[in-house]
Amino acid sequence: MYKSMAYNMLKLLLLRKSIILFVFSYLMYGLWTQQLFPSEMIEVAEEVEVRLKDVERFRVIDTDKFLNANRIQAGSRKSVCLVTAAISGPTLSGGIASAFHNLALHLGEDERFEVYVLYTPHPYYQSGTVTEHTRFFKEHNVTFITLPGGSDKYYGSPLMVRSYRVMQYLLHATTRFDIISFHDYMGLGYYTTMLKRQGLGFSKSVLMAQLHSTLLWSDILGERSPKSYHTLGYYHMEKKSIEWADVRISPSRYYLDWLESSFMPARLSNGHNFVLHNLVYPLPTPTSEKISKFSNHLVFFSRLEVRKGLFVFLQALKKEIKGVGAITFLGPKVNIDGESSISVIESSVNSIEWITSNGVEVNFVTDKGSAAAIQHIKATNGIAVMPTLGENSPYVVLEMIAHRVPFITTNAGGGLELIDRVSPDNIVRAGCVRCLYGSLQKAMSENGLQPVGPSVPFDVARSNYLDVLEVLGSWNEPAEITPAKYGGYSVVFGITSHDRPETLIKAVESVLDQDYDHSSIRIIVVDDASTAPGIEKVLEKIRQLAVKERVAIDVIRNEENKFVAANRNYIFNIGVEQRADYVCLLDDDDVLYADMTRNFMTVAANTDADVLVSLSDNFISKSDGNRVFSHLSLALGNSVGVNTIVNFIGKGTLCAKPKVVASFRGHDADSELSNSPFVDWQMLTRAYLNNCNIELVPLPAYRYTQNSKDSLLHERNGRHDIFRGHMKIVRDILAGTPEHLRDFMYYSLMKLRRPELSSDGIF
Ligand SMILES: *[C@@H]1O[C@H](CO)[C@@H](O)[C@H](O)[C@H]1NC(C)=O
Repeated sequence: MYKSMAYNMLKLLLLRKSIILFVFSYLMYGLWTQQLFPSEMIEVAEEVEVRLKDVERFRVIDTDKFLNANRIQAGSRKSVCLVTAAISGPTLSGGIASAFHNLALHLGEDERFEVYVLYTPHPYYQSGTVTEHTRFFKEHNVTFITLPGGSDKYYGSPLMVRSYRVMQYLLHATTRFDIISFHDYMGLGYYTTMLKRQGLGFSKSVLMAQLHSTLLWSDILGERSPKSYHTLGYYHMEKKSIEWADVRISPSRYYLDWLESSFMPARLSNGHNFVLHNLVYPLPTPTSEKISKFSNHLVFFSRLEVRKGLFVFLQALKKEIKGVGAITFLGPKVNIDGESSISVIESSVNSIEWITSNGVEVNFVTDKGSAAAIQHIKATNGIAVMPTLGENSPYVVLEMIAHRVPFITTNAGGGLELIDRVSPDNIVRAGCVRCLYGSLQKAMSENGLQPVGPSVPFDVARSNYLDVLEVLGSWNEPAEITPAKYGGYSVVFGITSHDRPETLIKAVESVLDQDYDHSSIRIIVVDDASTAPGIEKVLEKIRQLAVKERVAIDVIRNEENKFVAANRNYIFNIGVEQRADYVCLLDDDDVLYADMTRNFMTVAANTDADVLVSLSDNFISKSDGNRVFSHLSLALGNSVGVNTIVNFIGKGTLCAKPKVVASFRGHDADSELSNSPFVDWQMLTRAYLNNCNIELVPLPAYRYTQNSKDSLLHERNGRHDIFRGHMKIVRDILAGTPEHLRDFMYYSLMKLRRPELSSDGIF
């Protein structure tokens, strides 16, 4: 009840805010373009309200009903690839590591599955060697694959590169996987789910997100601010890979609720949602082993960090707990505001009188893997204390139940969903020091703590999980998801050129080589007052080449240099006149790959994108005239936050609906800042400020050669030009920001945007 009230209030708040923001931006836009009509404004506001009300809440599939309705016929084995950045063995601790390890081993035991683990941090191992791990998993019928290749031939933030390499591996893998499963954390599945949704790959695999923790969730609950501006991109990657997955499996209902109601809500209404508890491996065997209820040993059993309730525990220790002989902090240490958690703990306990004067032993055990840690608690007859402030579905609780270790935890997050009955002795209110103290004192008393059982028996949880996967693994038939084919879109290619006849010819040839119906293509070359000798001849040759290939072409020559922004607007206007579905822009030093148009129009058919942006293969031209591959330049698409700071939207070669571009006045071609760099970035910023549907096509679309003579970057790269280029974009963002937040927005943008920000030369 109280949860749904909170949800509604939050929704109301968000709704009101968005309307205010929207109306405000509209007002600003109206003032700016001087065409403000009050009646239109009201209509728009109402439309927004209707749209927001339509947002569908997620539904969770009832596992029993699902399994009954999908009785499994014995079929071929299902291949499952678990893509992970952490797995017990290579990784020492953590929920994701346990979840992937245990799931892999359960699947390996079951002959219905063929199991692969794609370990993405290779060659990094917290423990052991790749040979040892490969052997260990092989003994459990699991093929351990290390993500091949390295990260040095990419431009992009580290997690973008990793997520992209995952997609590349999966796309070219010789095994076809029925199920590809990745965790939400770090957005490993970002490009893979993007590509599938766009109809460019993975049509025969079910993409399954295992929901454990996003960075946003753990930053908020761990009371940490985002690490850098790249983190904004990571938040986006995680959120989108969750939304775009075919299937989501969450170990708790709580976490689905959280994802949908955070201030960056994820839409969970597409695809299928399951709540399936994490698995314990091996399944606990019933034991008649007597548990000693008496203990004088408290074990704080969690990572030694804020979210795990470390400070609540330290506070609770301030008042004397009678009967305590030893306190152990068992879990990996972290940094808390720049200080090691060990020293934070030490300085706290050393100031507690009853601990020092009674000679209570204080121990730190920070290097044990999860199995060894549990053994340690059992061997020392400890009471596990997990006073967490927020959890999705805590493994420590499952493990304490499985090993029948007495424990104390809190009502935060999904922990309660794992327990068969809630006793006030074991389960205290999260963050309540007094409650925790009461429970700790009770644990030291004669009767001790009562054992707790699982809400779903461990073997049932296992068979549910595996049966669901078997059904999902049979969903790879084309009927499940049929990507649309590219439609008969008409495409105008606009090439702006200035004094580079040799490369211009190659650019035009690459358009003529497009693996796309030539009668749907038109080329417009705008020559911006070139004076290079021979330019006339080259332009004539281009015309002949196009005629020979039966492609319509217009060659336009400017009398005076007009600069690229104006030329591009001009091309978009021709696109509007010609009623072209898309206008695609390239520079005269770009060479398109032959499948570019087909890929882009496939994405258009599947997403109805307003703007399609690309990735590029970048080359460096050597002094001897040869070109060598330098890197694949990555982008993120429409990740607004990070894109205000660095251009990760997409590369300069892009396609857009000309009418849509005209509606937001395209490139800045007439202000005092228009003659500055970041031409594409500025246009793309206007596109997202106007709520355009921007799609990144995550396959390289063209070859770009750095150090090309005269490229804009090399002409205008001084401090002055870069400042003006940034300012041009900042100005558009401020126009869409409520006035009372503008000084703050201005400060943030100017502080975070640094002229020295690394760029790979693609604006
Ligand atoms: C490996 O697979 C076989 C056949 O499915 C099974 O009998 C065996 O128990 C599995 N081994 C392990 C260690 O899971």
